[in-house]
Amino acid sequence: MKDEHLNEEHESDETLTNRQGHPVTDNQNVRTVGNRGPTTLENYDFLEKISHFDRERTPERVVHARGAGAHGYFESYGKIGNEPISNYTRAKVFTEVGKQTPVFVRFSTVVHGNHSPETLRDPRGFAVKFYTEDGNWDLVGNNLKVFFIRDPLKFPDMVHSFKPDPVTNIQDMERMFDFLCQTPESMHMVTFLFSPWGIPANFRHMQGSGVHAYKWVNKEGKAVLVKYHWEPVQGIKNLTQKDADHIQSTNFNHATQDLYEAIESGDYPEWELYVQIMEDGEHPELDFDPLDPTKLWYKEDVPWHKVGKMVLNQNPENYFSEVEQVAFGTGVLVDGLDFSDDKLLQGRTYSYSDTQRYRVGSNYLQLPINKPAKHVATNQSAGQMDYRQDYADHQNPHVNYEPSLIGGLKEAENPGKEYEPYVEGKLQREKISRENNFGQAGETYRRMKDWEREDLIDNLVIALGDCRKEIQDRMISMLTACDEDYGRRVSEGLATLTETNEKKMEDAVQESEQRSHPSDPY
Ligand code: HEM
Repeated sequence: MKDEHLNEEHESDETLTNRQGHPVTDNQNVRTVGNRGPTTLENYDFLEKISHFDRERTPERVVHARGAGAHGYFESYGKIGNEPISNYTRAKVFTEVGKQTPVFVRFSTVVHGNHSPETLRDPRGFAVKFYTEDGNWDLVGNNLKVFFIRDPLKFPDMVHSFKPDPVTNIQDMERMFDFLCQTPESMHMVTFLFSPWGIPANFRHMQGSGVHAYKWVNKEGKAVLVKYHWEPVQGIKNLTQKDADHIQSTNFNHATQDLYEAIESGDYPEWELYVQIMEDGEHPELDFDPLDPTKLWYKEDVPWHKVGKMVLNQNPENYFSEVEQVAFGTGVLVDGLDFSDDKLLQGRTYSYSDTQRYRVGSNYLQLPINKPAKHVATNQSAGQMDYRQDYADHQNPHVNYEPSLIGGLKEAENPGKEYEPYVEGKLQREKISRENNFGQAGETYRRMKDWEREDLIDNLVIALGDCRKEIQDRMISMLTACDEDYGRRVSEGLATLTETNEKKMEDAVQESEQRSHPSDPY
């Protein structure tokens, strides 16, 4: 798929040239006046080479900067149990049994920069671009099934508190928990994140989730709510903090390396895609809002249905042009797939294409990795780096507007009955009515294995140990509201930690006084 998609042609002539196609005869020495004299300004080759190098970095993603990617395909099972899937969605990527659609996947860590360690406690991104016959569909998810917040207005503050301090450039747990202890809806995500679920062993052994409720629309224009989940066929593996520390001491690229080497050796990772389906509507019988991304839809209430599998079988040929320049967005949907009114999802949808116009450039969709596999014919032209390679073929070049009687592009036919939800209400700023911030977090705590709960308590105690008492107290009271045992154990851990810390501090001072300064060997 990739060769065809990237449309690369390799020159058989191996002669080194500059970017104007001029052969380079000496790539080792700049031109100087005499053997030891100054360099001159007419060194065109040198100036071009160094100027290009000076511009080799583009802005990194504001979040999810570090990532690894791979190509592969998605194969549809065409059914929900024994029913044809077309009863629920008319999206062609799902309706035909055995249909294969090319995909590109980018896995990532979230908070730190482009070369930060992959062992850090952090959600992991799991973004999939499907190059479908109806254009691109992006499913931009994470490994965990819930999120910290439910209102997009809070996202920049949340990220600022997680990122390094603007003065010291060091991540600070006190800043992070300062935000979290005043964000009760985050307790469910915090419970997953500080347990071993917060450090997946690598990308191949982690789950993925769309997190939000989306919608599926069928031929009759009827919609249902849908959640997506990826299950690794390789199995799930997480790390305790100790395991992660051990790996990080020798390798901070272990997840990228694991994915690359597995694919290179033909051990292709696979995930099965499951969906959960709910009737569209408010569901007053639930003690939470089905559109709330901080909540799970429990499997026992809303069953998981297998709808397809994904296989990753080809590594990128060039990291920058594929993994770095790929641009995913939650607005990138095809016919038969739709948004729900989850406000976090709607806030995200603006943010992705906005940042990509800044990060990659206004014509980012013309890059091979982002370009749909089907024909593209728009009246949106020009802008920096517009090359419209195969766009111009599809239209009368004089008519770049619509409607027109003298040529140009025509509107497409609607492939099915339009889905037209009825919406009314006053324009307001208000929290959702069924917040239930602690119920599911407590349930998740109780459902964890003993060793997972122990690791969770240890990690929270260490992180909160760096915070002032007011923040610790607020966190303890919220964790107690989730589950009494949870709050009590963190509180007891913090009390012991304070004693241990004081002792450690005394020992360290004594040791450093005894230690002699090294002598300079020169
Ligand atoms: C990346 C915004 C919530 C998953 C990004 C980027 C932005 C962003 C600006 C960088 C995109 C780029 O440079 O190409 C937001 C906002 C959110 C939000 C405003 C909430 C209001 C979420 C949630 C998830 C998520 C809930 C998971 C379900 C991802 C992933 C990436 C990403 C996987 C990396 C995509 C890639 O690999 O290129 N987000 N995000 N984000 N976000 Fe979000």
